[in-house]
Amino acid sequence: MSVKVGILLSGRGSNMMALVEAARDYDIALVASDKPDAAGIAWARERGLATFTQSPKGIPKAEYEAAIHAALVEAGVEIIALAGYMRLLSEAFVARWAGRIINIHPSLLPKYKGLDTHARAIEAGDAVAGCSVHIVTEELDGGEVLGQAEVPIVPGDTPDSLAARVLEAEHRLYPHVLAEFVRR
Ligand code: GAR
Repeated sequence: MSVKVGILLSGRGSNMMALVEAARDYDIALVASDKPDAAGIAWARERGLATFTQSPKGIPKAEYEAAIHAALVEAGVEIIALAGYMRLLSEAFVARWAGRIINIHPSLLPKYKGLDTHARAIEAGDAVAGCSVHIVTEELDGGEVLGQAEVPIVPGDTPDSLAARVLEAEHRLYPHVLAEFVRR
């Protein structure tokens, strides 16, 4: 039986789309978001996927996360894939799903944890950038790295041009790493 994956996103959801398009070794049981108007949610809904949104605005973080957790459990989710989910999960949430949350990050970890990864790589004069899929722990972008892809940084690159090149690599890397991870 296929492993049931829940995807959390905050924005356009291009990595979610790549995971959906490549779903063979796993089923996408839920696409959830902290942003009710996220473009990725509209896309998932059009595709007939189960979706759930809960804004964190005006409610305690624990209540927000409890709602997300309940929706994931209700959908039978076994593994969570973060795909451009731009909110820090609490230690309590991560503990509940220990070892079962993975994330894609747009840098070659352990380099450039956090935000503005492309600008920082260019600023540092790096010759290569890339992306990493890692297990989520309570330490920001700090868990075991499951796979990485490198892309060159070319003369004249801006954070935007580099981000676009890295994003293409993300779309190839993430489905492959998730498929391997669910077989573990
Ligand atoms: C991706 O580049 C992803 O690596 C990054 O946000 C973008 C989401 O794009 N994630 C992070 O920076 C996490 N800290 P998408 O919504 O089109 O998948």
